Amino acid sequence: MKVAIASDHGGINIREEIKDLLNGLGIEFDDFGCECDTSVDYPDYAQPVAEKVANGEYDRGILICGTGIGMSISANKVKGIRCALVHDLFSAKATRQHNNSNVLAMGERVIGPGLAREIAKVWLETEYEGGRHERRIGKIAEYEEKHR
Ligand code: RB5
Repeated sequence: MKVAIASDHGGINIREEIKDLLNGLGIEFDDFGCECDTSVDYPDYAQPVAEKVANGEYDRGILICGTGIGMSISANKVKGIRCALVHDLFSAKATRQHNNSNVLAMGERVIGPGLAREIAKVWLETEYEGGRHERRIGKIAEYEEKHR
């Protein structure tokens, strides 16, 4: 698995925590910023990561901002992206099993580094269940085809 990760200025600490997790798990990743002390715009970091996942360059993306909301909204505008904003372990597992989410968003002003690390670990290690969920994901993809 190859992971693309990025954050804005509001998510730098959790980004470092997740990089440490990825190193520990032996998962290949690239960090797409930000290199920032000052305020930056989250779409500038969400969009490149989402596009790299959508075009198959990376298998998964992880995005962190203050709330995770801006990152998730931005990533979900990219065709083929199913970005889940997750702040609990139940959802981390369920969104992989049911939604086959390919991007994870989290908010550093919402949860601490320990929980973020556990969420990312569960999200990375949980398999998609397929089956009835395939029909539902198919409907999202159909909508994207028709309306973009
Ligand atoms: C930046 O101040 C903040 O708006 C951003 O990190 C994020 O929370 C947006 O959704």
